Amino acid sequence: MTPKSTTTPPTTNKHLIRWVEKMAELTQPARIQWVDGSQDENTRLCSQLVEVGTFLRLDEKKWPGCFYARSAPNDVARVEDRTFICSLSRDNAGPTNNWEDPYVMRRKLKHLFKGAMRGRTMYVLPFSMGPIGSPMSQIGVQLTDSPYVVVNMRIMARIGAPVFAEIDKGEQRVVPCLHSVGAPLEPGQQDVPWPCNDEKYIVHFPETREIWSYGSGYGGNALLGKKCFALRIASNIARDQGWMAEHMLILGVETPPDAEGRSEKTYIAAAFPSSCGKTNLAMLIPPAGFEGWKVWTVGDDIAWIKPDATGQLRGINPEAGFFGVAPGTSLKTNPNAMAALSRNTIFTNVALTVDADGKPDGGVWWEGMTETPPAQLIDWRGNPWFAKDQAAKDPTAKTPAAHPNGRFTAPASQCPCIDPDWENPEGVPISAFIFGGRRAHTIPLVYQAFNWSAGVYTGATMGSETTAAAGAPVGKVRSDPMAMLPFCGYHMGDYFRHWIKMQRSLTVTPRVFHVNWFRKDASGRFLWPGYSENMRILRWIVDRVHGHVPTRETPIGWIPYFEDIHWEGLDIPKVRLRAIFEQLQQVDPAAWKREVMNHEELFIALHNHLPAEMIYERELLICRL
Ligand code: GTP
Ligand code: SPV
Ligand code: MN
Repeated sequence: MTPKSTTTPPTTNKHLIRWVEKMAELTQPARIQWVDGSQDENTRLCSQLVEVGTFLRLDEKKWPGCFYARSAPNDVARVEDRTFICSLSRDNAGPTNNWEDPYVMRRKLKHLFKGAMRGRTMYVLPFSMGPIGSPMSQIGVQLTDSPYVVVNMRIMARIGAPVFAEIDKGEQRVVPCLHSVGAPLEPGQQDVPWPCNDEKYIVHFPETREIWSYGSGYGGNALLGKKCFALRIASNIARDQGWMAEHMLILGVETPPDAEGRSEKTYIAAAFPSSCGKTNLAMLIPPAGFEGWKVWTVGDDIAWIKPDATGQLRGINPEAGFFGVAPGTSLKTNPNAMAALSRNTIFTNVALTVDADGKPDGGVWWEGMTETPPAQLIDWRGNPWFAKDQAAKDPTAKTPAAHPNGRFTAPASQCPCIDPDWENPEGVPISAFIFGGRRAHTIPLVYQAFNWSAGVYTGATMGSETTAAAGAPVGKVRSDPMAMLPFCGYHMGDYFRHWIKMQRSLTVTPRVFHVNWFRKDASGRFLWPGYSENMRILRWIVDRVHGHVPTRETPIGWIPYFEDIHWEGLDIPKVRLRAIFEQLQQVDPAAWKREVMNHEELFIALHNHLPAEMIYERELLICRL
């Protein structure tokens, strides 16, 4: 029997209604609720989440409109080994993706989803990635049995009634997304605060543009508009249609006004792997010595970039919120993020502050939020946590209060430096790309690729130390091309080819740079202060885009002259600065030869799809070395 909707479908789209019915037949929810996205609906859902214990309402004075959630300990990050690209041919998924035959996978999923929503509500959640009605936007409908997902998606995307209206125009293809936490409730069975399943499947069908996600309620596994749609499915659409779906922030650098009061704004898109500083760079506040300069945020995680009619690349942020890494975020490192998350925010897997009796007092804390932690907290697992244990010799006593991948879900509109054009349906003009990773050695602070094809090579061969976002061991250098290793929905070699090809539709080719904020000295300390000081490098990049400064050539690309970096405002003697800068910029041919061997490893895996340009670039690099 098909469960009945509690509300009349607010859409006339027969395909949509039929699909919802079919999926309800399969998953057997107790009710169906069509999501209108209203404030009332959200208030009701949040109250329900408080009642079942998924949410804790935070203190209205300290954290107005904010909620706290704690996930199951086995559901704290994206699960890359459970993520599948089920293209018709294995070859189209390529060696960097998990693949399964779509027919086999469909059978498997139908079995898993059978009755998966029993006892729960199926929410029909329409969402637009990108401003509603923008020619660059795309629409999806997520069916989910998780109200936590609904209220998060309401922050992360444009959802509800206006999207149904857009669907009813019938002009756009809608991407169907089915999601279940995989924890059906038997009659009378008590629910748990974070339902999920040990068995997880995050599955994409690129040809039919479908997403099926089972077993997880967390982040990119469950908020299907984000990585599943806006990157894995969208990268397929983008390849077919001649645009780009990238794991990139977009920021605008604005110069101080000149004598006539005119300032110049340069937009830059930057790809860093997960938990490697996109949010931080996107919201940077220029340091002392940069009076009048301003950095504006368009997006902090995903960029959709398309050539316009004149051959200029233009980018939008398909998201409407930030799903940001909490640990390390503070008034010192990222005041703009702190302002964005100060209200109407959902915190997941951070710590709770407590009163004198050790009871939650409606506040949250995470590592790095303040220099010294509160004496006592309740950690992300719900256990009492004492600062004094962190000083203990016994290593088992030491454990972070917040999970390293603990996150905040905050509306982008609340960010003080959100760009006035962040919702411009035409996007903003992109003048430069930056690639970057977390690399303790070898990779200089900044260099510029010689040209587009060398730039694509730079992105294709970038590597980074793994972080907590991937749900796998951290700290190992792995190659992560364009920060898209977990997110490219087709063969990585074809993706490089697409990048190479993009230049043909452009009249202005963006300049390409590589940065590394994470180089360390012999004693393991960061050589570069990072954060707001990254402005010095951004300014050089902007200067390069406009051709204002000369460069020094190295085997890997162009690097800045010390004199062309704006050092004002730093309280370090010039001689010492110069020495640090030399260390940061050092290009060691021996280390780079080893680096090239690692490039080879990836290239061998991709060989039959690798564009010839990558081979030429590699040869040229070897010759220069
Ligand atoms: P995802 O949301 O996972 O895609 O990641 P992201 O790239 O947006 O990561 P985010 O900006 O949240 O980076 C988080 C981590 O990078 C934190 O541990 C920060 O402390 C660290 N970080 C950010 N910028 C810098 C920097 O300039 N220098 C150093 N050393 N660390 C930084
Ligand atoms: C990332 O891991 O790159 C994220 C977080 O931005 S998630 O949405 O969970 O993938
Ligand atoms: Mn990301």
